[in-house]
Amino acid sequence: MHYFQQREKMTISLDNLTNPAEFPMWFLDECKEMPTKDYAPLQTKEPAEGSNKYLIPVGDTLGEKDRLGALEAVYNGATISWLKDQKLPESGNFLDIGCAQGGLTTLFAQNFPQFKYVAIDNKEAQIAKAREITKESGEELVDWEVCDVDDMSPLFEKYPDRFSVVFSRLTLTHHKDPAKAIRNILEMVRPGGVVIIHERSLRTKYMTPKLKALESWGKMVVVQHRLQGSHKDTTERVFTQLARSDKVASVKLKYLSFPMESEQQKSLFRRGVEQGVAILPTLGIPNLMQKIGYEDGQTWVEEIRAIEEDPSIKCYVKDFACIAARVK
Ligand SMILES: C[S@@+](CC[C@H](N)C(=O)[O-])C[C@H]1O[C@@H](n2cnc3c(N)ncnc32)[C@H](O)[C@@H]1O
Repeated sequence: MHYFQQREKMTISLDNLTNPAEFPMWFLDECKEMPTKDYAPLQTKEPAEGSNKYLIPVGDTLGEKDRLGALEAVYNGATISWLKDQKLPESGNFLDIGCAQGGLTTLFAQNFPQFKYVAIDNKEAQIAKAREITKESGEELVDWEVCDVDDMSPLFEKYPDRFSVVFSRLTLTHHKDPAKAIRNILEMVRPGGVVIIHERSLRTKYMTPKLKALESWGKMVVVQHRLQGSHKDTTERVFTQLARSDKVASVKLKYLSFPMESEQQKSLFRRGVEQGVAILPTLGIPNLMQKIGYEDGQTWVEEIRAIEEDPSIKCYVKDFACIAARVK
């Protein structure tokens, strides 16, 4: 106890991300209460027009671009370094599924130039934005395509050699049937290729000292799963499907924990709350905001902004899952 209390005063550096001895006391306490359940679907009386049941939408708005920027600031470092640790194939096509506005795909193209990049998203607005951004910067390194993970057959025609690497991050978490998505993904991989998935799992948790505004943020994420019919145990479903497939030679799962240190990283919470506050009242579910914890959305936004701006409040992503499967 005493040991960890002393440790709490230490600065957490990015070099020892996974060393539990460096985490503060409240973080270790929270770990004892990791969630273990899936959630029942939630029906809206009147689905909000255009929201596509995303409480945290993914359209072509400035706010959304900033939220995706914050998401990338949280996860990109861990993703790139984990890919560098994998024995990736030496050449071929690389497919990024659910690329949004292309920030991570472009980073891959810069870090792993041995591949030819194809990136898909099922939202036209996202792909249009990705094309626009890369055209402006002159970095036209990627073939951007509007395509759904549920039907990737158009890619077969264009890429008959299929893909040496198929990657997806924080996309299957929005899918009703991640196991089906994995069966489709395995069709896209050439022999000797790899599938890499980064997802939330039953173990994943956003860790903060107990603060109401952030606990409510966690509740909103659960509401989003319930509206979409998606699952908190996406990683477990993906891993099981890969491990059972006779197409897969080996599969490994590693959990990463890392701090959200900067104001930009912490802004991920506030940006999500701002979008949620705009959409929650339109869903036609009585007292939904109150159930999440606030009578008044503006108070929630203000409280969460205060957390973002207070450097003494540290946040962590606990046990974000990385899966790599090698195909026969
Ligand atoms: C949270 S964003 C993740 C963006 C990016 N992969 C990252 O990690 O930075 C999820 C993206 O997946 C896309 N998406 C959701 N369901 C999809 C599906 N069935 N097929 C293809 N893309 C999908 C969404 O449109 C959205 O752009």
